[in-house]
Amino acid sequence: MQGLTIVTHPLVQHKLSLIRDKERSTNGFRRMVREIAMLLAYEVTRDLPMTTKRIETPLEAMDAPMIDGKKLVLAPILRAGIALAEGMLELIPAARVAHVGIYRDHDTLEAIEYFFKSPQDMADRQVIVTDPMLATGNSAIAAIERLKARGAKDIRFVCLLAAPEGVEALRKAHPDVPIWTAALDRQLNEKGYICPGLGDAGDRIYGTR
Ligand code: URA
Repeated sequence: MQGLTIVTHPLVQHKLSLIRDKERSTNGFRRMVREIAMLLAYEVTRDLPMTTKRIETPLEAMDAPMIDGKKLVLAPILRAGIALAEGMLELIPAARVAHVGIYRDHDTLEAIEYFFKSPQDMADRQVIVTDPMLATGNSAIAAIERLKARGAKDIRFVCLLAAPEGVEALRKAHPDVPIWTAALDRQLNEKGYICPGLGDAGDRIYGTR
């Protein structure tokens, strides 16, 4: 599907299978979400523009490759997106962070915003929105609308698992926002959970159930 990248790297797929297992401990789940996030960060930043800088190695001068251009902002959708963003920050420690507090109403599955804080100069930055689960797409669509209203123009979305329904909804609402995921699962169930999925990502990361 256009605009959708499934990261099929064996390390990602293996770790994802480990965290799908309902017997995985909170500690193991959280640690591996962060590890997968690092691997996803590697993929989603693969095409960052490069420049060169003149440096001196201990032996001689060289034009060394460096990342050029826009500064990155990670935009986790609270709360589960934080674990993904933290993993990515291990690889991109200079990134800024925009927090987007959105929860989905359990009955209507609609996205409700309760917190938003981002850097001022969003138009000049590349924004990577993180949420482990792209289910109905409602939260992702609302978060991206909010970031665009704040000026963001260059936005990517990263998740662990996506449902076909969520991918379709997000691509329709924001065709300019490409998606990276570790897997595209079968479908949503009647409660809006991804199947086979991994359950409630927030509860499993923070041990709240
Ligand atoms: N959010 C979750 O945490 N899990 C799902 O399966 C769907 C949405």
